[in-house]
Amino acid sequence: MRINKYIAQAGVCSRRKADELVLNGNVKVNGAVMKEPGYDVAEGDKVTVNGTAIEASEKPVYYLLNKPAGYVTTAKDEQDRATVMDLVADIGERVFPVGRLDMNTTGALIMTNDGNASYRLTHPRTEVFKTYHALVKGVLSKEKLWKLRNGIDIGGYVTKPARVTLLKENKNSTLVEISISEGKNRQVRKMCKAVGNPVQELHRVSIGEVKLGRLKEGTYRKLTQAEIEYIKNC
Ligand code: URA
Repeated sequence: MRINKYIAQAGVCSRRKADELVLNGNVKVNGAVMKEPGYDVAEGDKVTVNGTAIEASEKPVYYLLNKPAGYVTTAKDEQDRATVMDLVADIGERVFPVGRLDMNTTGALIMTNDGNASYRLTHPRTEVFKTYHALVKGVLSKEKLWKLRNGIDIGGYVTKPARVTLLKENKNSTLVEISISEGKNRQVRKMCKAVGNPVQELHRVSIGEVKLGRLKEGTYRKLTQAEIEYIKNC
C-alpha cells in the first residue's frame, strides 16, 4: 500500500496531508526517514509519524460531530488549544476531521479514519455542497445576493456559483443560508465580507446529504449506512 494511503488509513490525517508529512521528513520506515511519496509499504515495515508507531486500520469508521465554537480542527495544535480530537477521544478508534472549520464556526464535521473518503469529500472536483447558516451584519440587498450567488472576488479568487437563500431579516443583521461546493480558506466569511456584511456567527448544517439535524452541540453520532454509501460514492 502506498505510504500516503497507509498513513491515512491509520487515521493520522488525510492522504494529501500525509504526502506533506512524507515530504517534510516526519515519516520513518524501519527507523530511516522516508521522503519518497511513492513508497509502497511492505508487510513487516515499521512506520512511524513524528516518532509514533502507526498501523493502517482495517475497519473504517464514520462519525458526525456537532462542533462547538472554540475548538480547532487540526489533530494537534501547536498553541495547545482545544481540538476536535478532544471531543471524540472516547470513540476508541483514531479518527480525524474531514476538511476544516474555523475555530469559531460551529456545526457539522465528519470524523473518520477512512483517508480515501476524506480525500474525495474535500477534493475540489467532487463538488459536494456544504451548507452554512450565516448570521451577517446588516441587510443583504438583491444586488449583494446576486453577487454571492454568481461569484464574488474574495481576494484574487472569484467564487463558483453558490446557492443562497435569505432565512430571516432582523433590524441589524440577516440570517442567510449559503451552500458552496468549494472549500477555500474562510470562504463564507470572505464572501460575506466582500459584499460588506461581515459574518457574526457561522454554523454548518450539512455536508452533501449528511445533515446535522438535532445533534446536540459537542456530541457526535455514527453515520447511517445510507450516509456512508453516499460519501463512499460521491
Ligand atoms: N467558510 C468559512 O468562512 N469558515 C468555515 O469554517 C467554513 C467555511
